[in-house]
Amino acid sequence: MPARLDSGSQPSSSSASPSVSSWTVSSWRDLACTQQPIYPDESALVRVLDEVRALPPLVTSYEIEALKLALAEAARGERFVLWGGDCAESFSDCTSAAIASKLKILLQMSLVLVHGTRKRIVRIGRFAGQYAKPRSTPTETKNGIELPTFRGDNVNRPEFTKEARTPDPTLLLRGYERSALTLNFVRALVDGGFADLHHPENWDLEFVKHAPLGGEYQRMVDSIGESLRFMETLAGGTILAMQRVDFFTSHELLVLAYEAALTRQVPRREGWFNLSTHLPWIGLRTSDPTAAHMEFCRGIRNPVGVKVGPDTAIETLLHTVRVLSPDNEPGRVVLISRFGAHRIGRALPPLVRAIRDAKLHVVWICDPMHGNTETVVPTAGEWAGKSVKTRKFAHILAEVEQAFEIHRNEGTVLAGVHVELTGENVTECTGGARGLTDDDLSRAYRSQVDPRLNYEQALELAMLIARRAAP
Ligand code: PEP
Ligand code: CO
Repeated sequence: MPARLDSGSQPSSSSASPSVSSWTVSSWRDLACTQQPIYPDESALVRVLDEVRALPPLVTSYEIEALKLALAEAARGERFVLWGGDCAESFSDCTSAAIASKLKILLQMSLVLVHGTRKRIVRIGRFAGQYAKPRSTPTETKNGIELPTFRGDNVNRPEFTKEARTPDPTLLLRGYERSALTLNFVRALVDGGFADLHHPENWDLEFVKHAPLGGEYQRMVDSIGESLRFMETLAGGTILAMQRVDFFTSHELLVLAYEAALTRQVPRREGWFNLSTHLPWIGLRTSDPTAAHMEFCRGIRNPVGVKVGPDTAIETLLHTVRVLSPDNEPGRVVLISRFGAHRIGRALPPLVRAIRDAKLHVVWICDPMHGNTETVVPTAGEWAGKSVKTRKFAHILAEVEQAFEIHRNEGTVLAGVHVELTGENVTECTGGARGLTDDDLSRAYRSQVDPRLNYEQALELAMLIARRAAP
């Protein structure tokens, strides 16, 4: 990421752009705001927010604008977006090994995608702030005891006790710090040559050697290495641009009081930037265009992701895009479709056509994870007889393939994919080249929330996407 720094100066009301004139950094407070923690001590929250407001930003407006440009290029088919990471990060996973392995799998996938698509890849992590989760119910009852649901490490703790489940505002500070620590390590690795295309062995994951697709991956690495040496012979020196790559951060925009505390004006740039992340997205449960999350996003200059699902009506989607991007700015609105393999064929085409016919600039991304979650009951292993949340690799792949097909048919562009994955050897999704079964889920299921592709499945998905997206 570029190193230029913003001071993150405090808000003043003088330079809001005309299209957001009635917006303020707290105008969302006047609207319905769902999925928010209820803190027992309001004054403790106010103290935390004051502290956050005084801390430096996590990202810069300069990086945010660079991402918006890259997204606009992806929407024109000039780049491809690889967006991935955990469903929810946890504070305990803020470790050297976990962060490095997430970067490694994203780098390996992007190498495969560069090879197949012949396009530059925009890498976006679901990391450095993905600590808050929307939930379908506000409380959970066990043995007659009702407690608030676990909403992510930024809000409360997962143990089923009153103390752990009571939202604690100081966790927002811990989340800010973990985000900063993660970003610091990512930036240092990237700037230190970790992502150098001359040395893909830096990000070799040991297990790739034993993976069913290890041979094919190695052939791609060798072929890119050869091309690079060829180009450098012609150029008469090292191509410096190959020594580093950009990683952008993203998380679901959920706890608005925290996001507002990091939303600032910066010197020499118009408007307001949410400096907690490059690319915040609005989840399906908070996507009402008349409610608080949309109001908040309306006034920030970041690119904004919006999940689009089976209940998204055409009119609502058109309205949402117009509200978020009154100037129809390329790269600003990122629509993340997530229907499930069985529904996308019917549901996506009318939405794509409506946006295309209205000539609205959007960046279409396919999330093949969230519409394909199902519950199975393994018959063997530790989890025999218990319900487990999983996803089938074949469904995930089928949704991505249909997304390509639909966009091709409609003359629009699928700009990228958004996946839940980990660089570790977990068994949370079934299928893939190794043929994981429901019974394998008992072996290494670690996700606290949604099931993620493991490193082999993630790499395999990248290979299959690369074939599909080949020019
Ligand atoms: C998510 O991306 O983890 C998520 C909760 O997605 P959605 O809002 O699409 O259900
Ligand atoms: Co999820």
